[in-house]
Amino acid sequence: ALLTVTGGSSGIGKCIAIECYKQGAFITLVARNEDRLLQAKKEIEKHSINDKQVVLCISVDVSQDYNQVENVIKQAQEKLGPVDMLVNCAGLSLSGKFEDLEVSTFEKLMSVNYLGSVYPSRAVITTMKERRVGRIVFVSSQAGQLGLFGFTAYSSSKFAIRGLAEALQMEVKPYNVYVTVAYPPDTDTPGFAEENKTKPLETRLISETTSVCKPEQVAKQIVKDAIQGNFNSSIGSDGYMLSALTCGMAPVTSITEGLQQVVTMGLFRTIALFYLGSFDSIIRRCMMQRAKSEIADKTD
Ligand SMILES: NC(=O)c1ccc[n+]([C@@H]2O[C@H](COP(=O)([O-])OP(=O)(O)OC[C@H]3O[C@@H](n4cnc5c(N)ncnc54)[C@H](OP(=O)(O)O)[C@@H]3O)[C@@H](O)[C@H]2O)c1
Repeated sequence: ALLTVTGGSSGIGKCIAIECYKQGAFITLVARNEDRLLQAKKEIEKHSINDKQVVLCISVDVSQDYNQVENVIKQAQEKLGPVDMLVNCAGLSLSGKFEDLEVSTFEKLMSVNYLGSVYPSRAVITTMKERRVGRIVFVSSQAGQLGLFGFTAYSSSKFAIRGLAEALQMEVKPYNVYVTVAYPPDTDTPGFAEENKTKPLETRLISETTSVCKPEQVAKQIVKDAIQGNFNSSIGSDGYMLSALTCGMAPVTSITEGLQQVVTMGLFRTIALFYLGSFDSIIRRCMMQRAKSEIADKTD
């Protein structure tokens, strides 16, 4: 099977590539920086299970020019055959208070996180439908299930993915093509370390109410859900609760999943209200702290 993973040179994307390589897949890694692509390729190749396996690197910006993205994916398909699974993992997070974020940040996040998922998917979907085989994975975020302080730009770009995925799943299901949306929690990756440099105090304290996951664990779950054709992919008890709570009109993969959502909705909403209350008090505490230090500065 051929896996194409955007953002495959780092973090969650690289771990997804390793996980699939361990299962015998051929891999196409898509990202911009060539050195990091080559480094990732070497790391992935250590996990081969047979000597026929190949890792191909494609250096392209997935968010800039649709024709370019289509061309490089076409070239890769000519070399390795049609894509069986596309994982849209290229993305980034930038946080800050709404009024502190540059307008260009909103444009950038929408462009990379949303359009950067539309373009590769658009480039492979026709062949998948013709072959009546395929999996498309979108990597959203828990911040794509609820809006949090500091994430006005990031959350909206990750919410957009959900709408795209739901509509696309309805279109392609009759062709045996399955869509998965993954909602990872905070995960220990180079991207997460970068994001932490700009996080407002409130966002950091709210994030710290849950633990940080390992990218290998997140990758394993995403690959498992994608292979099974599950629409939803989440991690841990928080992830399970959030997915059940925010299921809306999203497709269900089994009757059990649907029944669990119905039964747990009231309980999970009650728990969510407690969480929301605690987030409010974190934000109030931060405001009071800032006000106190401003007064102290003035009196000095
Ligand atoms: N880590 C977390 O806590 C977390 C939580 C929830 C969701 N997520 C999501 O999971 C995905 C992966 O995150 P990560 O933490 O693993 O990130 P990461 O370590 O920063 O890796 C990001 C990958 O995307 C590539 N990329 C970024 N912009 C690109 C572009 N315009 N065109 C092509 N490739 C691009 C990067 O390579 P180049 O820079 O070389 O292009 C890199 O391979 C993201 O969509 C992120 O929003 C992460």
